[in-house]
Amino acid sequence: MGMTAELHSRRKVLTTGAAVAGAAAGAVALTACGSDSAPSGSTAAPPAAAPGETLTALSDIQVGQAKAAKTADGKDVIVTRTAEGTAAAFSAICTHQGCAVVPEGAELKCPCHNSIFDAATGAVKKGPADQPLPKIAVKVTNGQVVTA
Ligand code: FES
Repeated sequence: MGMTAELHSRRKVLTTGAAVAGAAAGAVALTACGSDSAPSGSTAAPPAAAPGETLTALSDIQVGQAKAAKTADGKDVIVTRTAEGTAAAFSAICTHQGCAVVPEGAELKCPCHNSIFDAATGAVKKGPADQPLPKIAVKVTNGQVVTA
């Protein structure tokens, strides 16, 4: 009994300490924001690629179609040329059980259980997958599709 009470009060102290530290860190982060210095982790990182990574040349993809590519660290991604000068990208990893999807026209097909995704949006067109492919933010710079 005595031990439990002791642990309990100790935890309370630790929790309070963490809250104070968190508040202090928040103040520091706010200050850093105004100084245009290194970006802090305020936004969620893209799932498959660091910003500024070239995935493919836009001209390698026909308008309305998609192409498989890899990030520098070897992750499978899909790059879709959504219009003449725009692109979208997605994780190529099927949300059903993790196979790599394959571009086929304006669709992405999973070879494992035949799920079909929309190449322009990553949305499921046919199951068994029931979640869209995670989107990767990209922009087109000098004809290259680059992670944003
Ligand atoms: S892993 Fe893609 S459909 Fe099952």
